[in-house]
Amino acid sequence: MLFGDFMMGARSRLLPPSLPFRFFGAAVFFHIAAWALLTVFADDAVGFVGGSGHVLAALHMITLGVLAMTAMGAAFQLLPVATKRPVRSVRACKAVFWLFVPGVAVLAHGMGHQTPLAQAIGGTLVVAALVLFGLLVADNLRRVSDMRVVTDHTWIALGSLALLGSLGAVLLADFRFGFLPDHRAVATAHGVIAAYGFMGMLAMGFSFILLPMFALSPPPDSTLGKRSAWLGGAALVLALAGLVHGIAPLVFVAGALGLGSAALHLRAMGKVLSGRMRKRLGDSFVLVRLAWVMMPLSIVIGLLAVAGVASDRTGPLFGFVLVFCWLLSFLMGVLQRIMPFLASMHSVRKGIKPVLVSALTADRPLRLHLICHCTALALVAAGILSGETLLVRIGAAAGLIGALSFASFAVLLWRRMRQHLNQVTQTPEK
Ligand code: HEM
Repeated sequence: MLFGDFMMGARSRLLPPSLPFRFFGAAVFFHIAAWALLTVFADDAVGFVGGSGHVLAALHMITLGVLAMTAMGAAFQLLPVATKRPVRSVRACKAVFWLFVPGVAVLAHGMGHQTPLAQAIGGTLVVAALVLFGLLVADNLRRVSDMRVVTDHTWIALGSLALLGSLGAVLLADFRFGFLPDHRAVATAHGVIAAYGFMGMLAMGFSFILLPMFALSPPPDSTLGKRSAWLGGAALVLALAGLVHGIAPLVFVAGALGLGSAALHLRAMGKVLSGRMRKRLGDSFVLVRLAWVMMPLSIVIGLLAVAGVASDRTGPLFGFVLVFCWLLSFLMGVLQRIMPFLASMHSVRKGIKPVLVSALTADRPLRLHLICHCTALALVAAGILSGETLLVRIGAAAGLIGALSFASFAVLLWRRMRQHLNQVTQTPEK
């Protein structure tokens, strides 16, 4: 599909702006909450090896509250545009939001305070929202025969979603009843499937739509994309089997396949960037490029942990690099482009020009966010490696300042958009 086709079809299939933006707004909120929690409970983050508590709560505010939240808003908006099939029901998309937001908040509260009732209620709401989201996306994909490069990734992501939700629910029940023979192994398998299989596959698949759009590039190499998706899918199956049954060689093979999948993906993305028409890509692509480095690095660190190389440090570092350095960097890079882009598309009104993306984007808060985000990653990683709580705390505080700065970008965007629309209502029609 050419960029022009995409743009022409895009406007006609846009959902009401309040729909994706409510997800993005919630993601901005949970981003602040997660870094704040990590700043307060930095002591628990050093040497974190799982189990409920405030670190697990902060982790899920990021994974569910920021990553999955952003992915849902983007998927509801972009998938119908990319696949040319409308979303089945806007009401159902709204229901996903109203189940998910309180669900994440209550689940995080239950994890942090180790309250089984809140864990059960929050977990149920979150899983219900994820199931509804999965059904809506599957319904859309079912009606598509082209666009295989995005749909292959998304099918694998949906399979992973079913697994991660079930394993998450089993882990919560095990906190209470203690029936799993090896809770740790199941927790690691859940984390790997959730991060690489669900979020990773969605991020990689949507890259084939979003990055050519942001960089003004010709269509990406779909053969590389499909091979990367299926190699990644095979890696996930082997990793799951290896982790649950404690077979280390299987995990190493999975890691090698995962690295192969990452290499193919990065090659496809490299081609997208080298063929681009937009030369200056801006700060958002600093985050995207950082994320690309972190994707394979997370696998290497994970394999070191499995091999027993300083596992007390490489284990927690693996989770941090995977979730914060790769996925969070990528999603924040994408979010800061997609919000003004969608707002601009929605600003088309009779008798007035649409507002430009550049006029909606407040650069300074984004620059501060970038600096703080990178500082936070470096300091928290150094703190985990050295066992220095203070480094983790200062790093998380930097992350918090960055998150507040990102929120001010979102508020400014909203105000600029309203100003523009007020102008529309005040301009008498000719
Ligand atoms: C996008 C979705 C999700 C992601 C990316 C994610 C990621 C993770 C990660 C990385 C871990 C740490 C694994 C480890 O300690 O090695 C974890 C643990 C855990 N997750 Fe999730 N998760 C997600 C959704 C869920 C959901 C929906 C639930 C509950 C319904 C859940 C419940 C748990 C529990 C209970 C643990 C703790 C296991 C333990 O250490 O004792 N997660 N998750």
